[in-house]
Amino acid sequence: MSTIIRASAPAKVNLVFEVGQLASDGYHPVNSLFFALDLREELTLVKGEPGTGISIYVHGDSIPEAHINAVPTDHSNLVHKTAVLFAQKLGKATPDLQIDIHKRIPVAGGMAGGSADAAAMLVALNEFMHQEHGTEKLSIEELAVIGAELGSDVPFCLYGSLAIGTGRGEVITPLEGLSFETNWLLCASSKGLSTPTVFAAFDELDTETQFTDLAELSKTSSATELGSRMTNDLEQAAFSLMPSLSQQVRELEELGAIRAMVSGSGPTIAALFESEAKAIEVSKALNSQGVVALTAKGGAQGARLDG
Ligand code: C5P
Repeated sequence: MSTIIRASAPAKVNLVFEVGQLASDGYHPVNSLFFALDLREELTLVKGEPGTGISIYVHGDSIPEAHINAVPTDHSNLVHKTAVLFAQKLGKATPDLQIDIHKRIPVAGGMAGGSADAAAMLVALNEFMHQEHGTEKLSIEELAVIGAELGSDVPFCLYGSLAIGTGRGEVITPLEGLSFETNWLLCASSKGLSTPTVFAAFDELDTETQFTDLAELSKTSSATELGSRMTNDLEQAAFSLMPSLSQQVRELEELGAIRAMVSGSGPTIAALFESEAKAIEVSKALNSQGVVALTAKGGAQGARLDG
């Protein structure tokens, strides 16, 4: 029987995203409260025939088809890069693999969809190489070091739950989860925004940022209190590139969201609701108008093997 490994990893929202000035390494220092949502990318690895290389199949029916079509299936796919880098770190040849990616996270949407794929791939490969090549399994800390080379959000997608991200977002300090349930509605945009473009627009705005104590914020006691503390320094930059977003944020709050905010570099809008019933009601209303609005709960596990 051929070896088959299944793994999944969560989407993220930045409950707080504080962004400093562009540094000489081309990145911005950040101070962010990351939160994982139970919207998971699912990845299946199947051992390929020797010499067949890596093939990638991407599918999903909950996000627009244009999002699925925007994901490359060649060596530029982050999952392909993950396989090459991981094997190199172990001193092994890149394995022959058939990779199936079931996408649920909007693509280029500011919710770490690509990073979640990479995180799931790291966990899956860790197991695959152990089973197939007898390599010792790496710890989550070791996987996060490799993940940071692939993208700033990959380490958080490995840890999941609630965490502070510093550095360029890749230095993760896990926190106790929130003490209450959070219900989210995620409004996907038909077009994506490229992360570097949003950061460049942020530079143009010349914003002054103070980094605050985010650990204290994790002790909020209700969704209402949390909503009042959510901020995103990239939001104005995303608005400047896609002006319709600010109108959408206002509309979601008029429809009953405690708080609606651009997620990370956008353009997905994450709206926090008091109850699951209300989030579902608004998502149905928006879906009937042709808007892709997904619901999710907060506080999901990081990347894991699935049986
Ligand atoms: O790390 P990642 O590959 O996701 O970053 C993509 C791009 O986003 C970087 O090349 C950089 O232009 C920008 N970025 C940044 N500051 C960060 C994270 C990303 O300027 N903290």
